[in-house]
Formats: sequence, structure tokens, C-alpha cells
Amino acid sequence: MRNEPFMRTYSPRQQAMARAAAATTVASRPASTGTTADILTPYLVTEQPYYRPVADEVELYEAAYSVRMPMMLKGPTGCGKTRFVEYMAWKLGKPLITVACNEDMTASDLVGRFLLDANGTRWQDGPLAVAARHGAICYLDEVVEARQDTTVVIHPLTDARRVLPLEKKGELIDAHPDFQIVISYNPGYQSLMKDLKQSTKQRFGALDFNYPEHDIEAEIVAHESGVTIEVAKNLVHIGERARNLKGHGLDEGLSTRMLIYAGSLIAKGVAPLAACRVALVRPITDDPDMRDALDSAVTTYF
Ligand SMILES: Nc1ncnc2c1ncn2[C@@H]1O[C@H](COP(=O)(O)OP(=O)(O)O)[C@@H](O)[C@H]1O
Ligand SMILES: [Mg+2]
Repeated sequence: MRNEPFMRTYSPRQQAMARAAAATTVASRPASTGTTADILTPYLVTEQPYYRPVADEVELYEAAYSVRMPMMLKGPTGCGKTRFVEYMAWKLGKPLITVACNEDMTASDLVGRFLLDANGTRWQDGPLAVAARHGAICYLDEVVEARQDTTVVIHPLTDARRVLPLEKKGELIDAHPDFQIVISYNPGYQSLMKDLKQSTKQRFGALDFNYPEHDIEAEIVAHESGVTIEVAKNLVHIGERARNLKGHGLDEGLSTRMLIYAGSLIAKGVAPLAACRVALVRPITDDPDMRDALDSAVTTYF
């Protein structure tokens, strides 16, 4: 989407591959420690991300940041949580380090590890340690995807102590005054195995996100995809129909993100029916009856 360059996602596996690829060239470099400015510059959100406020979430988040309250953004996938954090980081002028959580992630992927190079071993801070040490907003996206034993490493950062123990290194980082931790969380996916511990949840303030109300969602879809507001409204109508099927054959409603995808295809000249099939109907269900129901919603509006 248009604002994608704002995303600076830290992906442990990609990092590991990049490290392996760079190993030969890095070997001659002295143990890396740049200044805080050098280290955080890549994480600054320099251009204003488009974010359409839905209620008072911007003011509430600013108040939460002013007391450095750890925040939890709750809501279904594709409803604007990630975009909101990017926007808030830009508005507050703070760097944003995003970690896409997954179940293979370990505590070391967050905190850091010793690396072996030609000069011996050197410590490399993980994204959480970088954020805590130098003062960034650390956003753990889809945190329930991480194992519970991984998520507990954030606990000491979320109470009054605001510290991060680097056990392997024998160091205790006192979090920088600008540091804040934000997590996102989709309550719909929760199962007993995949939920946050109460002891984790109770450390956060929470903002609820949902698909915006009709006119606002249409405005967002039109802005992001380039279709006219009339077309965007039709897409939102289809989205709303589909959301009513949630629990009646659909596990999850059509997200704003999916409506934007459909709009982007239409804006590129794809016929609306085909665009909706590709971007809305087929991805969300394999059930022939459900597909028929959704197809007929599409033909009602296009
Ligand atoms: N309130 C909003 N303002 C601007 N764009 C939005 C808003 N809500 C959703 N979007 C759009 O929807 C897309 C998906 O939102 P995203 O933040 O990635 O969802 P989530 O993180 O909740 O899964 C974004 O790329 C953005 O284009
Ligand atoms: Mg997201």
C-alpha cells in the first residue's frame, strides 16, 4: 500500500539470513557501537503516515505516552492498529521499532545474543534492547504469536522498574526515558494455548480497535486505493455484509485492508466483480455456499 515504506519491521529470521550473508564483510569491523542517533535514525518515521482518527484514540495514546504507559492495541486484523502506531510515532517524533512476532521467536531474538566473528564474540542488542537502551517505541505486532515464555521478557520493562535484564551478558538496562512498549493483539484468535497470560495483560493500558463506521471506512478505502468515494462506499457495503456472516460460516470479517486491496485493483482498471472475487471472496473462504453468498453481495453493489 502507499504508506508501506514507513514499515520497518524487524524480522528475526530475515535478520539471521542477512547476518549470515554479511558475516564475511562484517568480520573486519570493530565491535559495533554507534551513537544513539546513528542507531535510531533508520527507525524514525520521517513522512506523515495517513491515519484517519476514528474516535479519541490519538489523544488517549498521547496521554498514555506522556506517562510511558505500556499500551495494548486490541482488534481484528487489518483494522488500522499498525498504521496507528506508525502515525503516533511520527506525531510524537519518536523512533519506532516494530517486531513481527511469530512462534519461532525466542527471548534472545528480542533481547540480544552473542555473535561469533573473526575477533571473537561480541554482543548484539536485540530490537527490544535497542529500543530500551536508546529510547524508541517498541511495537510487538501480533504478540500472541510468540510463545508465552518469550513474552515474559517484557515484564520488567512494564512495571515501575522499567529495566531489561540481559542475563547472558550480565547487564541490566535502565530503560531510556523515551522508551515505550506497545503490543497488538487480536482477541478473535485467542485460544487457551494462544492467549496472553493475565500477568502480561494486566501490565498494559488498552485501546480497542474495530472496523471504522461506514463513511469513515469509505474515506480510508478511497484514500488508500485511489477509487472514488462512491466505489469505496460500495466496497464498504460488501464488507459490512460479509462481517454479518462472521460466526455464521466465516471465521473473520472482511478487513479494511482487504477492501483496500479490492479498491487498488479496481483503480488499476480491473472490473469490480473480478477485483472483489480476487481480493475479497476467494481469500476469505473455500466454502462454495459462502462464496455464493459473498458473490451475491458483490453483485448487489457492482
Ligand atoms: N484509521 C485508519 N486510517 C488510515 N488508514 C487505515 C485506517 N484503518 C485502516 N487503515 C488502512 O488499512 C490497512 C490495514 O491496517 P493495519 O494497520 O495494517 O491493520 P492491523 O495492524 O490492524 O492488522 C492500512 O494499511 C491502512 O491502509
Ligand atoms: Mg498489524
